[in-house]
Amino acid sequence: MTPQERTALRKNLRNTRRQLTIREQDEAAARLYNSIAGQRFFHSAKRIAFYLPSDGEIDPGFLLAAALARGQHCYLPLIHPCKKNRLLFVRYRSGDVLRSNHWGIYEPVLRSATRISARVLDLVFVPLVGFDAACNRLGMGKGFYDRTFSFRMHTGRHRPMLVGVAHECQKVGKLESSDWDVRMDKIVSDQQTYQPDRI
Ligand SMILES: Nc1ncnc2c1ncn2[C@@H]1O[C@H](COP(=O)(O)OP(=O)(O)OP(=O)(O)O)[C@@H](O)[C@H]1O
Ligand SMILES: [Mg+2]
Repeated sequence: MTPQERTALRKNLRNTRRQLTIREQDEAAARLYNSIAGQRFFHSAKRIAFYLPSDGEIDPGFLLAAALARGQHCYLPLIHPCKKNRLLFVRYRSGDVLRSNHWGIYEPVLRSATRISARVLDLVFVPLVGFDAACNRLGMGKGFYDRTFSFRMHTGRHRPMLVGVAHECQKVGKLESSDWDVRMDKIVSDQQTYQPDRI
């Protein structure tokens, strides 16, 4: 697939996702919650990273609320102020102030005391633009998640567990992956769960 074809694919998938109605989004968020809330990987995680949805992304908000209520430590990504195209994660507690960033995406306010290394997270819910049944992920095209979690490939570690979450309409036949692409351990859509070793 040429870079131009990847750009066109991203554009199409983002358009499809944006066209979902509020009702479809709410139903998808509830189904995502129902698929994940009872799972061991979710309730056994002590530190979990979520994201605040934008651009039609599926909303993991019910899971965030449940994790906060259970006393699990929750984190949100923030664009790294110094390292190019990398994310850092900061603790989020109910009622914390959020500010919209350069792209209009809400972020917590950076306070060094609440910032943690991506390596100590147990579980990360990863947004995506497209995916395939083998758990390959197509992101927004900046490599943020790929760079931030590249240590997993260098060290062969499986922590944190990376769980891509998406609408089923974001699934494509087969995505070509590049050397730098970090594969998801699981992808959960509003309709199905995909695992690389189960296809
Ligand atoms: N670990 C890395 N080190 C250096 N450059 C990287 C790394 N990962 C990705 N990149 C660069 O980032 C660019 C975008 O990567 P890619 O097209 O895979 O983005 P993406 O996975 O769609 O986006 P994202 O991860 O932000 O959602 C690529 O051109 C690639 O060279
Ligand atoms: Mg990538």
